[in-house]
Amino acid sequence: MRRSGYGGSTEAISDGRCLIECTMSDKYRIVLAEEDFSPEECVFIRQLAGYDENCPSPGAELRRCLNDYLVFQNDYICAAKRIRTELEILELDYRIRYDHRIIRAIDGRTKSVKSICTKLQEKQKPLTLASASENLTDIAGIRVICPYISDIYEIENRLLAQDSISLIRRSDYICHPKPSGYRSLHLIVGTTLHSAGKTSRIPVEIQLRTVAMDSWAGLEHKLKYKNPLGVSDDVSTELSECAAVIAQTDERMQRIYNSLFGKEK
Ligand code: GTP
Ligand code: MG
Repeated sequence: MRRSGYGGSTEAISDGRCLIECTMSDKYRIVLAEEDFSPEECVFIRQLAGYDENCPSPGAELRRCLNDYLVFQNDYICAAKRIRTELEILELDYRIRYDHRIIRAIDGRTKSVKSICTKLQEKQKPLTLASASENLTDIAGIRVICPYISDIYEIENRLLAQDSISLIRRSDYICHPKPSGYRSLHLIVGTTLHSAGKTSRIPVEIQLRTVAMDSWAGLEHKLKYKNPLGVSDDVSTELSECAAVIAQTDERMQRIYNSLFGKEK
């Protein structure tokens, strides 16, 4: 089953693997696609892929749209898989070399077709696959949870040292927290894919945060960030103060860690 949002990631990525394997047989891939997308998703996909209502064979036209969307989506799934693999290699290296678990968890998701359309509409951009590629940088998203603040910057340096990964945009919400209190390092990185005789740089959004930052963001996400009713100024202030207390604890834990193990790396 396809799910959107972080937390359903393993499925999203294993779905991706499944789709890649299924490209071995076009027929099977098409059957899989039709079953895999709900009627609501098909409406969005048709829109993005430029459905031709006047086509004499509407069935074939729908299959073309699904195919085009799968090809589009596959690039993002592959790009995320590559970044994820780099992160897993890095984690292993740190565990073996320094006996340090630099990454506690990796989560990921590809943006649902509905969210892609909503975001394009919010940005007042055309509803096409080409426009989504051009205007959205978070179709593939990976979240990395680390024990210490220093781990976040260490991972950033190691990732960006890879030839296959380039930095597109960096937002350091740890040094410059959002007014909400949100803290994380956001990197939009590009990774180059070669397929069907063309080369493209696919963006992946990586959110790096500590376990403590993640616990705050997870709670606040439901309480306020995605709460359609909104919250009062008092509640906003209190949430921001909670984030500040958590940030102080992160800094104290970092100092303790440095004093005990700082010289080892
Ligand atoms: P989105 O349209 O939400 O993707 O925002 P954006 O493209 O302007 O990027 P930004 O860096 O502001 O936020 C990207 C993502 O960071 C969001 O989708 C959330 O996952 C997370 N995020 C940003 N701000 C907050 C916040 O105040 N609270 C929480 N819980 N998460 C946030
Ligand atoms: Mg986003």
